[in-house]
Amino acid sequence: MLLLRRCQALTRFGSLTPHRPQAPAAATWCAVRFVGSGSHNKDQRWERGGLGPSWRQALVGLLAGTGAVLAYGFHHHKAEHTDVVSVQIKEQTSDLPIFSQEEVTKHRTLKDGVWVTFKGSVYDITEFVTMHPGGDKILLAAGGALEPFWALYAVHNQEHVLEILSEYKVGELRAEDQKKQQSAPSMDPYSSDPERHPVLRVNSSKPFNAEPPPELLSDNYITPAAIFFKRNHLPVPQVDPASYELRVDGLPGGVLKLSLEDLKKRFPKHTVTATLQCAGNRRSEMNKVKQVKGLNWGLSAISNATWAGARLCDVLLAAGYGPEAARWARHVQFEGLDKDVTGTTYGASIPVNKATSEEGDVLLAYEMNGEPLPADHGFPVRVVVPGTVGARNVKWLSKITVSPEESSSHWQQNDYKGFSPTTDWDTVDFKSAPAIQELPIQSAITVPADGAMVPRAGEEVTVKGYAWSGGGREVVRVDVSLDGGKTWQVARLRSGDEGKTPEPTPLGRAWAWKLWELTAPLPPDAHQLDIVCKAVDNSYNMQPDTVAPIWNLRGVLSNAWHRVKVNISDDEE
Ligand code: MTE
Repeated sequence: MLLLRRCQALTRFGSLTPHRPQAPAAATWCAVRFVGSGSHNKDQRWERGGLGPSWRQALVGLLAGTGAVLAYGFHHHKAEHTDVVSVQIKEQTSDLPIFSQEEVTKHRTLKDGVWVTFKGSVYDITEFVTMHPGGDKILLAAGGALEPFWALYAVHNQEHVLEILSEYKVGELRAEDQKKQQSAPSMDPYSSDPERHPVLRVNSSKPFNAEPPPELLSDNYITPAAIFFKRNHLPVPQVDPASYELRVDGLPGGVLKLSLEDLKKRFPKHTVTATLQCAGNRRSEMNKVKQVKGLNWGLSAISNATWAGARLCDVLLAAGYGPEAARWARHVQFEGLDKDVTGTTYGASIPVNKATSEEGDVLLAYEMNGEPLPADHGFPVRVVVPGTVGARNVKWLSKITVSPEESSSHWQQNDYKGFSPTTDWDTVDFKSAPAIQELPIQSAITVPADGAMVPRAGEEVTVKGYAWSGGGREVVRVDVSLDGGKTWQVARLRSGDEGKTPEPTPLGRAWAWKLWELTAPLPPDAHQLDIVCKAVDNSYNMQPDTVAPIWNLRGVLSNAWHRVKVNISDDEE
């Protein structure tokens, strides 16, 4: 509560009591193997440094601006190669020649050589580019500085990539050119990102990814927008609502173009309370079993809001969707306005049945908790696909396409898929697994925190948390154990704010989470509690008891029983 009071004082970010309304390239890297003349020596050098293909993939990706998948390369190898890195970086000082920017700029093609600069050093990466089919995006940086490209994906530990880069160093950039680079106006693509609430726990600042402290999450049935988890793959685009245009295409009626006003006036406004959860929620628990690729989300990459906007099914009807299109249409694709340096936008798709069914409740939302969507959550329009993984809820929506095909986006094809615990980065075949859509049953303990002290004098303990299931399946029970799963008690569930009777949930449309609570006497002789929770939905789906059997290389779908250990303190308060 103290924390909450502190947050409420931070009014510039809005109150925490919400207003309630009445890398396409990634596939290429996986296949990359060094072939052809000239590659042999380079391979040997990497072998000596102990660096596998993922390192090379990381550099291609960074240079090419496909950062989402790179975190793995960094995380994975940071653990294994820290020593090598620091030694090699120190070795970089040399008597190499000095080049002017003008000379560097002459090297922009494979024919003339591909040179780049980074932090005052000049690198000839021609050989690297030649060896990487699909590495043509690297050429965007050719003849210039790498910094603007790396600024886009300033996610993790560039020193690891620097190590690879150091192999290609050919000289130093002339001091006056270095100065010019430094005094150039900020090329930080994140410089216009919005301000964020300081209470958020930041997993990555560029792009911005953050989650609220768990105890705040369970304080509010409707999560205030300021602390709703934020998951951005790219800089937040600045969109002028007056000139905003949404294109709907792929249908026999031709392209339908809608302004924000059209969306508000031509279509009835629908309101849906729906929980969004990132596929990577609770990834940190998988990381404890074995390192996975991705942001180290705790248990708060999930939040619940009231969304309002036009129904997607109404808009598709207006665009010409009907029995004829139903014969060939299988997917509805979405494209966002956020772009990487190559102009590639965020995209995803959902099955056409979900998109066109009234019961699917898919919204083109322009309001969140009774206010216009905040910039981080997709202003002015985002898709809200209730019951479906966060990744398909495309923000800053610019285009909707009805198609026989899924979105070709990197995030649909080569990310957000689940694999067996035995699948690793050398064997993974993203084509072999379906894109995650509906999420499995989930629950977690938000209070008390792991390692907290519970005073024995209080004689009881209160445990709180959330529970949710994908696909509109309703959570019907949450079991809580204080002794590691030997005995269980049933928690009290609520589907709205304390004291309010919620509307009954139509069958198959339970889009919002349930908050739960259990107050139980402290076991008399216990010094520690091993608290566990597990939820059950109305299809009797239950969470798996441990993480290891569901571990997967990307750390998605982490929904094992949640466990926290707390100590009982005998001290008087
Ligand atoms: N839409 C766009 N345009 N760009 C993005 O980076 N991230 C997706 C999805 N929609 C994303 C996007 C992911 S992975 C998630 S989990 C949700 O947005 C997060 O939504 P939020 O930031 O509103 O919580």
